[in-house]
Amino acid sequence: MPRTLVTAALPYANGPVHIGHLAGAYIPSDIYVRFLRANGEDVKFICGSDEHGVPITLRARKEGITPQEVVDKYHTIIKESFAAFGISFDIYHRTSEKIHHETAAAFFSTLYDKKIFTEEESEQYYDEEAKMFLADRYIVGTCPNCGNTNAYGDQCEKCGKSLSPSELINPHSQLSGKPPVLKKTKHWYLPLDTMQKDWLDTWIRSHEGDWKNNVFGQCKSWLDQGLQPRAVTRDLDWGVPVPLAEATGKVLYVWFDAPIGYISATKALFANTNDPKGWEKYWKDKDTRLLHFIGKDNIVFHCIIFPAMLKAHGEFILPENVPANEFLNLEGDKISTSRNWAVWLHEYLEEFPGKQDVLRYTLTATAPETKDNDFTWKDFQARNNSELVAILGNFVNRTLVLTQKYYGGKVPAHHDLQDDDKACIQAMKSIPEKISENILNFRFRDALFELMNLARIGNKYLAENEPWKIQATNPERVETVLYISLEITAYLAQLMEPFLPFTSATLLKMLDLEPKKWKDFLGKQILRPGHQLREPSLLFEKIEDAVIDVQLQKLETSKAMNQLSNATVTPSKPSTSFDDFQKMDLRVGTIVSAERVPKTDKLLKLTIDTGIDTRTVVSGIAADYSPENIIGQQVTILVNLEPRKIKGIESQGMILMAENAAGELAFVAPVKNMDNGGTIR
Ligand code: 2FM
Ligand code: ZN
Repeated sequence: MPRTLVTAALPYANGPVHIGHLAGAYIPSDIYVRFLRANGEDVKFICGSDEHGVPITLRARKEGITPQEVVDKYHTIIKESFAAFGISFDIYHRTSEKIHHETAAAFFSTLYDKKIFTEEESEQYYDEEAKMFLADRYIVGTCPNCGNTNAYGDQCEKCGKSLSPSELINPHSQLSGKPPVLKKTKHWYLPLDTMQKDWLDTWIRSHEGDWKNNVFGQCKSWLDQGLQPRAVTRDLDWGVPVPLAEATGKVLYVWFDAPIGYISATKALFANTNDPKGWEKYWKDKDTRLLHFIGKDNIVFHCIIFPAMLKAHGEFILPENVPANEFLNLEGDKISTSRNWAVWLHEYLEEFPGKQDVLRYTLTATAPETKDNDFTWKDFQARNNSELVAILGNFVNRTLVLTQKYYGGKVPAHHDLQDDDKACIQAMKSIPEKISENILNFRFRDALFELMNLARIGNKYLAENEPWKIQATNPERVETVLYISLEITAYLAQLMEPFLPFTSATLLKMLDLEPKKWKDFLGKQILRPGHQLREPSLLFEKIEDAVIDVQLQKLETSKAMNQLSNATVTPSKPSTSFDDFQKMDLRVGTIVSAERVPKTDKLLKLTIDTGIDTRTVVSGIAADYSPENIIGQQVTILVNLEPRKIKGIESQGMILMAENAAGELAFVAPVKNMDNGGTIR
């Protein structure tokens, strides 16, 4: 029997999961696995939380808790969300578990012993005060592109530009606030360049036409550029420690340990069974098909780097396919955690209790299988009202209600079949094959469409035969029509399980049927005449405009909040020449006396020792500083500004102040005491 191991990307445990996650990796993989199970195949479905990496340590710092506390919190939330949506993992593991640390460390050691890695010393940014090497995320500064003063060393989140720390203006460490210095450090590299020549290039290119175009295209572009060695270790204190005596203070790069998480999770699945080595056949037996379901941002790691690691290790099989999806947008805009532009699963569950299948349905029907796609609440409503309610729900409900009404819920027997009955049965029997074919080729949208076609066939059959009109005159015909409609309903109940598991369970219960393996009912009769059904209830209910408006309003609020926070940073002015800048004579000065300017709220009259002279400056800082508190304060003063009269006082220059979004002011002064008259350049 074919054996399959399906993995779904391990989500980072630094935040909850949203619809983009579900649509990208978890719903497709769940449909696939449920389908294989329904076909009696040997399949294991593996996932877990990815609990290492810099963003987790940063979040911990931000929230004032430990990284372990961060991952404990989000691991639980994520795990519960997936379970509530019926994502049927055989195990949802986590990479902070001991078994994972051991597995990942042993994996590294094997590659090390086989002399796979190259070792290199390089210069990395270091915080001398915190005594720590700084991941790019730990370095902040001003974005050279948009002037955002909080850009990270790898990216500016405001304008989206990818950056390196050396591009930042005024880079400083998030830990100490000090500018980072470069310091030598040693790391271990996976030599992807030589691997490309040896086998990787040929192996990947052999999948052309077999892997999805979007997946193969991305791989090809990496190969065409030429792969570079990749560091698999980092200077960080959160992660799997590098198992080498000379590597204290270093951990495995998160993208080295995370995919090994699939292996450790499979081990954990078998660990407490009477077959603890059972995991091996899923990873080592050439007859196992390994499939990685992921989003497009993970393609390089699953198609290139992880296979390179597996091959170098030597004991493991390589993935047969990596059916990655593109991205799902929300209402025309990229889903973003920092902008709260998302539909969070834990919130959906609270706001739409019992409606998990509606979201599963919508996300499958609009899955970003070949290109980015858009989720809109109006589409969600339309799919529910015009498809689930009006087509599937309506057909099932009409069939079950009429059966109750005419036969007290007992399945009638059919009589001689007419051509249209035979055609309908034929059409019904052709559907499972189409569903299978699409699922096996990772075309889940098309597969779902075929499932809905079965409901469409049923509706059309009912509408053409109108049993409710002929019950008095031709009860035998009605028995046949309802028998066939019930059989379609039973087929639907079984076939919808991979897509709509909750609805399938409800409908099977109404039909008083058990879930069956597909081979046990395909081409056969599911319902026996005389079989007693239970009371029917509605499978889906209409979603009103008001409910959708609440969701749209929520997004409007996010948008407004974002605009507000964007407004807090004034856009940069047009560029100026160095010569113009040079014309300004900026000096260090010290306030020697200060008093309020009578009859004003904001103005102070300052006397400043500029090193050149002692002069009077009128400054609008009275709302922030009282005169008695600023004597001795060093300032930056523009000494060659033309004097001007303010409230009758001649102001001879201007002091520089920093201002935040709330309009609060702060002196711009040297960080250590400098002689007055010192130049500022
Ligand atoms: O992109 C992500 O969310 C990663 N945490 C996925 C890791 S997949 C695997 F390799 F573990
Ligand atoms: Zn920017």
